[in-house]
Amino acid sequence: MNASWSTTASPRPAIPGPDTEAVRARDRRHVWHTWTPLAADRSALTLSHGSGHHVWDIDGRVYLDASALNSTCGYAHPDVLRAIVEQASRLHHFDLSVAGHEPAGLLAERLAGQLPPGMDKTLFVNSGSEGFDAAVMMAVSYWTHLGRPRSRVVTFARSYHGATLLSRSLSTLPRNRHLLDSPLPVTRVELPIEPRLSRQEEALPALLAAFERAIGDDPDDLPAAVVVEPFLNVGGGVVLPPGFLRELRALCDVTGTLLVLDEVFTAYGRCGAMFAARREDVTPDILVSSKGLSGGYVPIAAVTVRQRVHDTFDRDPVIGGLRYGHTTSGHAVACAAALATLDVLEKQGLPERAERIGTDLLGRLTPLTDAEEVVDVRGLGLILIVETTSPDLASRVLTRARERGLLLRQVGAAVMAVPPLVIDDEGAAAVAQGLTEAVTDVSG
Ligand SMILES: Cc1ncc(COP(=O)(O)O)c(C=O)c1O
Repeated sequence: MNASWSTTASPRPAIPGPDTEAVRARDRRHVWHTWTPLAADRSALTLSHGSGHHVWDIDGRVYLDASALNSTCGYAHPDVLRAIVEQASRLHHFDLSVAGHEPAGLLAERLAGQLPPGMDKTLFVNSGSEGFDAAVMMAVSYWTHLGRPRSRVVTFARSYHGATLLSRSLSTLPRNRHLLDSPLPVTRVELPIEPRLSRQEEALPALLAAFERAIGDDPDDLPAAVVVEPFLNVGGGVVLPPGFLRELRALCDVTGTLLVLDEVFTAYGRCGAMFAARREDVTPDILVSSKGLSGGYVPIAAVTVRQRVHDTFDRDPVIGGLRYGHTTSGHAVACAAALATLDVLEKQGLPERAERIGTDLLGRLTPLTDAEEVVDVRGLGLILIVETTSPDLASRVLTRARERGLLLRQVGAAVMAVPPLVIDDEGAAAVAQGLTEAVTDVSG
């Protein structure tokens, strides 16, 4: 990779650095890493700090981070840092089941302004998984409130909606299945076509037919909701055909089934638009968003709901409202971080930039399909996928890229590049170069 990129000056003094062996030993001894085999040593890469689209490890080595699923503004953005400190100094939080505070109101109003008309009410939680649980619970409660109970949920078999018992029980992905059965009846739709072909217009009829069958027409067994991700992230980096969300909305409307969009990953610019729903001009009944909302600075997720769904909750028999929440729901510092993140997104036009840079990157990476080991190269906004022939190969590409100073993600046999949305053209060129070199190194 080019020298100026790999020697990017650290914004922090490297010396005096920590006792790196002690840092690693402490991690190995005490930290239980998420989603990690016990035999793996995650402390081999131990990070110290970041700036823009770069991070530094405790040995002073710099990496271009194209692995950060939630990174919108990149690392150490001064506007977001300032907002966090100001809010923490003024009122770090107050429990929203007891009182209101200004940052929650401002953020909920902002989301209502950005989503289609009628999506006016937002519940804040702390993670995408919690948001998804709340959304499903709201959908089922809605039907109870109408006096026509429905509880079945339709989703992709390859879906990933989170790590909680409810959210993970929907998926058939081996890593995510839980030992316990789902608390709800679930109909899981298999992809009718290979992931490499799923983005093509021709895939749309088969996909819709599969959802139509899953919804069914038995008046005694209609689903409460269809819940989908606009892009299957953990399910293999699958790009869905254009028009899918719009047609799915129409399909749901035939039976009054609610449409719940899981935009935990795609929202706030990542998909090349503020929301995938806006890209397709679709109004869901419930939309769950998280990652890019605060760019990962402070945990927060939003469940934004159509007013007509919300208004049925006065019929709840116990409190006449929503029986759900966390002590830290709508945390004031998280809301302030999110407001500052949205300012940066809007001021810098990051969703449009994600689309432009993503398209450019896709063009640069597409020649990789000539390699025998590459099955497909695809993308959506600033999500780039290089599908290889095996998970082992994808894992070797990741290792090689890291040795070259580029951090990527792996989803099964696919390698995923998700740089911060603030990445510039030079950074994007470095991602293309690093990924291309890593694939070339491990091929043949
Ligand atoms: C589409 C989607 N939904 C839900 C989640 C769960 O979010 P969290 O990890 O914040 O619980 C994720 C996380 O990767 C996701 O990609």
